[in-house]
Amino acid sequence: MNLAMLAQGTQAVRTAFPTAKPVVGLILGSGWRATATAFEMQGRLDYRAIPGLGRPTVAGHDGALLWGTCSGLETFVFLGRRHWYEGAGWESVAFPIYLLKTFGASLVVLTNAAGGIRADLTPGTLMVIDDHINAMGAHLLVGPHDACWGARFPDLTQVYDADLRRRMDRAAECLGHPLAHGVYLATSGPTYETPAEIRAFRAWGADAVGMSTVPEALLAHAAGLRVGALSFIANRAAGLGNRPLVHEEITAAAYSAAPVMSRLLQELWKELAK
Ligand code: HPA
Repeated sequence: MNLAMLAQGTQAVRTAFPTAKPVVGLILGSGWRATATAFEMQGRLDYRAIPGLGRPTVAGHDGALLWGTCSGLETFVFLGRRHWYEGAGWESVAFPIYLLKTFGASLVVLTNAAGGIRADLTPGTLMVIDDHINAMGAHLLVGPHDACWGARFPDLTQVYDADLRRRMDRAAECLGHPLAHGVYLATSGPTYETPAEIRAFRAWGADAVGMSTVPEALLAHAAGLRVGALSFIANRAAGLGNRPLVHEEITAAAYSAAPVMSRLLQELWKELAK
């Protein structure tokens, strides 16, 4: 990983937001962008102005870093995520975590859209990620060890912070919209899965499937940040629904749930502020 580039990007953010002291980070994945309205904005910086990050190439991912506040918690909101399958390298995926760590934030909330494998994970369900399976066939910590990411062999016994997961449940109770819990499996993408892969993933213990989140989660955990993650179940996984998967339909499903996602994040930030 090119740490010099990550440091250069961090400097660009410092120059743009010289008084920023975020305590929380939020990465908004597919379909979650409308939830940014939950934050009172202090600043906005286009990803193009941040070396190492660059503009997302995926429809539905805007590409701007927002500096905002919710329930008094200063937050860096990443409006749009970079993915491994975009082919821009690991720097753009790792950058948000590097930035949060450098600015002294203590926790990060990751969001995504996913396909439901378990029977109850139907479109419209919100799922707390309790654990994950890395089936990307790649790992962003491969390479020379750099102590800024923690140990050479990070422990992953509990990547997703138990207290944060409880706070997510409490936030959802306030909305009267209980959350599912489950294991998220990440593939590299960019293809969706075959029905045979979905059957195999179910046998491995996966409840939902997507193409993101796992790299950021394990990096943030290794670097000492508390990690929480939420999946919006946008579709039944391949072979479990009655038609082929289409990206535009999947993101549209997530957009339609934006009001409940925004309220959930608002309640969660209230819980985090306690
Ligand atoms: N598979 C992979 N990624 C996804 C899916 C899916 O079914 N739905 C949303 N992102």
